[in-house]
This record gives sequence, C-alpha cells and structure tokens, in this order.
Amino acid sequence: MLLRALLLIDNRTSQRRVNVALQKLGLLTDSTSSLAHLQDVIVRESYDVLVISRSMLTEDSSEWIRRVLELPDSPDIIVLTDREDSRERANWLSQGCVAVLLQSLPAAALKSVIEAVLKRRRYAEPTTIDRVRALGPPRLTDFRSASELMRSFMSVVERVAPSDATLLILGETGVGKERLSRAVHNDSARSKGPFVAVNCAALTESLLESELFGHEEGAFTGASRSRRGCFELAHNGTLFLDEIGEMPLHLQVRLLRALQEREVVRVGGERPIAVDVRVLAATSRAVENEVELGKFRKDLYYRLSVVKLRIPALSERREDIPSLVSDYIHYFGTRMTHQATKCSKEAVEALTRYHWPGNIRELINVIERAMLLCPREEIGLVDLPHEIRSSSISQSMIDDSEQRANSLSKLPLNEFLARAEREYLVRLLETTGGRMGETARLANIDPRVLYQKMKRLKLNRKDFA
Ligand SMILES: Nc1ncnc2c1ncn2[C@@H]1O[C@H](COP(=O)(O)OP(=O)(O)OP(=O)(O)O)[C@@H](O)[C@H]1O
Ligand SMILES: [Mg+2]
Repeated sequence: MLLRALLLIDNRTSQRRVNVALQKLGLLTDSTSSLAHLQDVIVRESYDVLVISRSMLTEDSSEWIRRVLELPDSPDIIVLTDREDSRERANWLSQGCVAVLLQSLPAAALKSVIEAVLKRRRYAEPTTIDRVRALGPPRLTDFRSASELMRSFMSVVERVAPSDATLLILGETGVGKERLSRAVHNDSARSKGPFVAVNCAALTESLLESELFGHEEGAFTGASRSRRGCFELAHNGTLFLDEIGEMPLHLQVRLLRALQEREVVRVGGERPIAVDVRVLAATSRAVENEVELGKFRKDLYYRLSVVKLRIPALSERREDIPSLVSDYIHYFGTRMTHQATKCSKEAVEALTRYHWPGNIRELINVIERAMLLCPREEIGLVDLPHEIRSSSISQSMIDDSEQRANSLSKLPLNEFLARAEREYLVRLLETTGGRMGETARLANIDPRVLYQKMKRLKLNRKDFA
C-alpha cells in the first residue's frame, strides 16, 4: 500500500529532516503552512500520517484532533515538540495522537519511531480498501431499511448477532456481506477483540493454509520463522472467511476440525493450540450446488450453515436506493470538493429502477463517478451511465426473465413453475428463519396454503430455523 504523509512543521530545518526520513521510508509527502489550510487538505485527501509541530496546535486542539480522527480513514497523528513536558504529552496521547517526539531527536531514531507507527498500515490487508470507502465502522443499525424484506432479514440478524453462533452469509456480489460481518462483530460481545478477514479466493492453497493455521519454523522452504495464523490472530474475536466457496477440499477438512475441536495445529507443527474464535463465512456462490457437485464438503456445509443469512439483493429492496444515494452523496461531498449536493428527482427514479447487478458496490461507484462529472449542484440524468439512464421497470424485468428463460426454457411448464415457486419460498424462508406466519404474510398467502406448498415442494421449516 502506498502511504502518504502530511506535514505542518514550523521550523524549516525540522521540516526538511522529517521529510527526508519519511521519504526514505517510501512515503509520499506533502506539506502545508497553516492549521486552517491543513483542515481543508486533510478532508480532501486521505493521509496515513500527519506530523504537526506543537506550536501549531492551539488551545482547542482537542476538538480539532477529534474531528480529524473521526474522518473515515483518519491519519495517525504525530506531534513534534521542542520541549519535554510530560503533562502536555499525556494530554495529546490521551486525545488519540500516536506519538509525541522531540524535534531534536537524531534522524535515525526519528525514522525508526515513524516506521513503527506505520507498520500497522503498511501491512493492512487489501480488503480494508473497501472499508476505507465505507461510511464508518459498520453497525447493525446502519442496515436500517425501508424495505419490509430487509427489515425482516435484519430482525433475524439482530437475534443471532450477539450469540457465538457460526454464520454463513450469502448474497450476490457487492450486497454487503463483509460489511454485515463487521457489523455483527461490532455488535457482539467480541467487539473489543480483533476482527480478522481472510479472502479464501485470493491465496494459493499452501499460502492459505499457513495464513489460516500458521506455520512452524522450517515447515517449508522460506519459513525461516514460525508465524501465527489467522485463527490465533483472531483469538477472542471474530474470523471472517470470505469466499469460503473457493476453499480447496483438503483445507475444508482442516477447517472443520478447527471448528469442532476449537483448536488449531500449525503447518509443520504437532502441538494443538486452543483458540476462542467465532467464525463468520461468506460467499456469493450457490454453495448448495457446490455441495451437490462434491466441490464443497457436506459436513463442513452443515457445520457452517447453522445459521444461514442471505442478504437480499439491492433490486429486491429498491425502497432503500434513495437514502443510500443521499448517504453516499453526503459521504463523497465531505471527502472531495464537489459542486453536487443532491440528486434530481428523475435521476433518483432512474437509479431506483435500475437492476443493480453489482449491488451497493456498483451504486457507490455510480455516485462517485456522477459527483466527479457533475459541474452543477444537482446530479441529473445526464451524469448517470447510459445503462442506468435507459433502465425502466419493464427493461429490468425483461433482463431478469431472459436470463432465467435461457436456463429454464427446456423444462416442461409445470416443472418450471414448481422450481420458480420453490426458489421463491426458499428465499423467503431463509429471510424469516423458517417462521411460517411471517413467511405467509410476506408471500401474501394463507399459512395453510404455505404449509401445503412446502409439503409438496419437500421444504422443511426446520432447515431454515
Ligand atoms: N447497508 C449499507 N449501507 C451503506 N453501505 C453499504 C451497505 N452495505 C454495503 N455497503 C457498502 O457496499 C460496498 C460493498 O460491500 P461489501 O464489500 O460488504 O460487499 P460483499 O457482499 O462482501 O461483496 P463481494 O461479494 O463482491 O465481496 C462496501 O463499500 C460497503 O461499505
Ligand atoms: Mg466481500
């Protein structure tokens, strides 16, 4: 990750020294001359570290520091001082600055302190990029919704979040599987512990194995030191296994064992290490099919799917689109200098009609692009991509049914209808956690009719509870 630093240093010699030290560490540096200017710059550009002279911090610095630290991807703040004053130092540290350094510190020492401060960021996982673009640390309350389907889904999530249950989070790409997992962690008793995310699709089999379980020194060529795996790192916290459907079969066996025994053995090691970790797994694949095809182990699937949560696609909860649009306009408005502060009625209508195959991630990209392009206060239809401008309810329905027809057109009609009905009911039952009354209400049918349909379609409510 390329890191950036911003300097506000009163003394030229110190400024040059700090600049050289930071550049030697591979950072890009910018400097500014006043606190007022700095506030403006820091809101527009994401910096990883801010080095500021003590003299630049005024009496009400605490308020200012708080605001900087509240920015979505806030920098680490280092204060440079020309005198030793332990009270002042304690004060800044308690306000959230990461270090207070003497201006006269030798260059090498300065460099090593800054390096230590930055270590955490430099090795941040790539998945944090999405987090940086998000609205803030996710909480379950962020998933408030105008859609009944989503509200009913969230009521199930709220019930299972505080428990220690393993959750399998399903949903199309970009619907918020990772964001929901982070929210579950933040709203659980483990919130003070770590949240560790591993993308099972991003690593080769052997790297993933040592990433998850760790390795002992000499376990393979290049393993000169032993290393802790993510299970150990997530101890007392939550381990998020993203793209679990991509996990190779032999690791699935090891994962199942770790979940059952609550202990892991490092690669090349023998000693079991007890870990207290809650696992949340996510995938955008249809894992049930992978199980049928033998690509995903049935036993692991049953162990993970104690609670299955399928996040409704954005096109199933269009009611939420207007508020997501305004949230993200506001979000980008505080991050960049833009003219646009709102969206025209026609533009919101087109955004609401569009079928959003990339879900919320796609919506965020569309808003960001529109804000960059729009020279006016109000985002209009012209600022939206062609496919959204031309979208209409009938168009998105045709798209959906065309896709479906391609795969299902070879079936006799009664089987086609039974499949569609089954798919529809499975979705609802997953959302309601198998509650019959609520499912019948959402489907707008009599509970007795629902019961008969489920019997005919061989669906058992207990499988969804
Ligand atoms: N309810 C929400 N409110 C606001 N932003 C959201 C919400 N849900 C998701 N997002 C944002 O949408 C983006 C995509 O979410 P996320 O990465 O969690 O999706 P995902 O399901 O894990 O996607 P993929 O399957 O592609 O990995 C993120 O920037 C996230 O912050
Ligand atoms: Mg994801």
